[in-house]
Amino acid sequence: MADEVSPPPATEVASIATPINLILIALFMILAYYRLTPKTAPTLPTPPAPTVFKTFTPPDLEPYNGRNNMPVYLAVRGRVFDVTPGRNFYGPGGPYANFAGRDASRGLACGSFDEDMLTKDLNAPLDTLSDLGDEEMEALRGWEERFSEKYLVVGKLVPVDSVEAKDATLVEKL
Ligand code: HEM
Repeated sequence: MADEVSPPPATEVASIATPINLILIALFMILAYYRLTPKTAPTLPTPPAPTVFKTFTPPDLEPYNGRNNMPVYLAVRGRVFDVTPGRNFYGPGGPYANFAGRDASRGLACGSFDEDMLTKDLNAPLDTLSDLGDEEMEALRGWEERFSEKYLVVGKLVPVDSVEAKDATLVEKL
């Protein structure tokens, strides 16, 4: 019969495996692979170490003088500030290095970083500053305000022979 449908030529059947089709199949497989493989959990940035409020005696505070890669702390009227971000000021060789690891109250009040502004005997009672005048106490309040805005309070300074110091030692031993 003349109008019988003839099968497609062999070249037409083979044309499904053209280079472009092979590339598309490969792309599809790559995409499918990436969609289906499980993603690794996103890693969160590690939070900074929590600040633990501690009780320091002057000898406890002394090692925080910026030497041996230690943080830098100083005390102002019983409050211990972490002044590590100001290491340039208080670290070894800095202009105010004398204050590091010490009670800096008198020096700040009197506007002097001389050695004799520091309490020599670390086991002695804390400096009461009772001999200072209004102007000096006002200057000290100014420094405290500045430090409170700029630095973290990490603890309090208590004298060696105080009940608080003994309590703190007991808590540490628990
Ligand atoms: C010779 C005179 C002095 C000059 C030229 C001077 C200069 C400076 C300068 C430029 C700064 C940096 C300020 C900033 O960037 O925030 C600074 C900070 C400081 N100064 Fe002086 N200073 C002098 C005397 C003193 C004295 C006598 C004291 C004693 C109490 C003192 C205590 C401080 C302290 C504690 C800081 C650092 C405050 C912080 O941690 O932010 N300065 N000084």
